[in-house]
Amino acid sequence: MKTLNIGLFGFGNVGRGLYDVLQRINSQSVSIRRICVRDLNKERGVEAVFTNNPDDIFNDKDINLIVEVIDDAEAAYDIVKRALKSRIPVVSGNKKMLGHHILELMDMQEHYNTPLLYDASACGSIPVIRNLEEYYDNDLLCSVKGILNGSSNFILSKIFNENMSYGDALRLAQELGFAERNPTLDIDGWDSLYKLIIITVHAFGLYVAPEEILTYGISTMNDSDIRFAREKDRRIKLVAHSEKVDDKLIMCVLPQLISRNKYIYSVEDEFNGVVIKGLFYDKQFMFGRGAGGHPTGSAVLSDITACAYNYRYEYKKRNDSVLPHYTTDHSFRIYFRYKTDEQRSLLTFSKIREQYSSEEYSYIIGDVSIADLKAHQEELRVADCFVAAYPLD
Ligand SMILES: NC(=O)c1ccc[n+]([C@@H]2O[C@H](COP(=O)([O-])OP(=O)(O)OC[C@H]3O[C@@H](n4cnc5c(N)ncnc54)[C@H](OP(=O)(O)O)[C@@H]3O)[C@@H](O)[C@H]2O)c1
Repeated sequence: MKTLNIGLFGFGNVGRGLYDVLQRINSQSVSIRRICVRDLNKERGVEAVFTNNPDDIFNDKDINLIVEVIDDAEAAYDIVKRALKSRIPVVSGNKKMLGHHILELMDMQEHYNTPLLYDASACGSIPVIRNLEEYYDNDLLCSVKGILNGSSNFILSKIFNENMSYGDALRLAQELGFAERNPTLDIDGWDSLYKLIIITVHAFGLYVAPEEILTYGISTMNDSDIRFAREKDRRIKLVAHSEKVDDKLIMCVLPQLISRNKYIYSVEDEFNGVVIKGLFYDKQFMFGRGAGGHPTGSAVLSDITACAYNYRYEYKKRNDSVLPHYTTDHSFRIYFRYKTDEQRSLLTFSKIREQYSSEEYSYIIGDVSIADLKAHQEELRVADCFVAAYPLD
C-alpha cells in the first residue's frame, strides 16, 4: 500500500470526523498534510496546517490525494475538476455536486486516467456504492429502495415512537445536529434524491437528472396523516426508490406508508436502510449510520484506502448492460389527503379504491401515475395536502 499525503478541503463534521478517525488508528500510511477551510479565524483546536487558499494544496508536490468534504456544491465541483485535471486522485462526499455533475466527472476520470471515489456521499458509513459495483455487477438486480436521509427519519421516528409533534421533532433534530438550520434539503427529499441518482448510476447504469425525478417530502404531513397511518398499523417513512420494470426504470423520492413486514419499518432515528432486490435471491438489507462525523469519516477513510490500492469505479453497468429507459409512465397506489376541491382536482386517479370526506379531513386512496404526481409536485408541496405511496402489503 502506498503512502498517502492528503490535501483536505473542509473541516466541519466530516473533515473533523476523518481527522479523529486517523488520529485514533494512528495510521502510518495516511496523513493529512494541509487543510483548506473557508474561515481561517475559526478556532480548530488541533495541530494541523490550515489555509484558505486552494493553491496551497494544489501546488504542494507532496500531496498525492485530495479529499473534498465541504458544504458548497459549486466550490466542490471546481475542486474535484481541478484535482482530476491535475491527475491527483480525489475523494468526495458531496452528493448534490455528484447528483448534478456525475456524468461529466465520469468522462473526466477516463480522460485524465485518474479516479474519483465517493462512497461516503450516499448513506454515510453503509458501503452501498462499492457493493453495487462489485457484487451486484450483473443483470439480476431488480430494485434498490430505502431510507437514505437520517434527519427526516429521525423526525418520523420521534413522531411515531414518542408521540412528538412534527415541530418539536424537527427542533430536536436541529439541536442534535441531525438537521440543517434550513431543513428543506432533508425534509423535502432533495438529499435523498441526490443519493438515489448516484446509487442508480451504479445499480442500473443510468443517469437521470434531478429535475426529471418525482421528489416529494414530509413537510406537509399533519396529525391526520399520522393517525391514518397508525389506524392501518403502518408508519410513514421517506423512501427513495429505483426499480427496473421490464426494460424501463422508475425512480422517485416519496413518503410511503410502510407495513410491519418490511425491513425498513424498523429503521429508526438517524439510521439509513437500503433494500436490494434481485432475481433468485429476493431481498437483501443493508443497515447502518447514514450520517455523522465519525461514521462518514470512516467511509471517507475507506475510499482513501481504496485509492491506495488503485481502486476505481468501473461503472460496469453503463459499459456492459443494455441500459433501461427511464419512465414516469407507471402508477402507484397512493394516499392523498386534501382540503379543497381545487387541491382534489390536482391529481387524476385511474382507479379510486376508497375515499372519505368531512369538514376537517378528506382523503382518497387510489392509483395515480408518477408523471401526474411529478407534474404537480410543487403545488402539492406548498398546499395543505399530503401524498404518500400506500402499497397493498
Ligand atoms: N454531515 C454528514 O453526516 C455527512 C454525511 C455524508 C456526506 N456529507 C457531505 O460531506 C460534505 C461536508 O459536510 P459537513 O457536514 O462536514 O459540512 P459542515 O460541517 O458544514 O462543514 C463544511 C466545511 O467546509 C468548509 N468550506 C466550505 N466552503 C469551502 C470552500 N470553498 N473552501 C474550503 N472549505 C470550505 C467549511 O469551512 P469553515 O469551517 O471555515 O466554515 C467547513 O469546514 C457535504 O457535501 C455533505 O453533504 C455529510
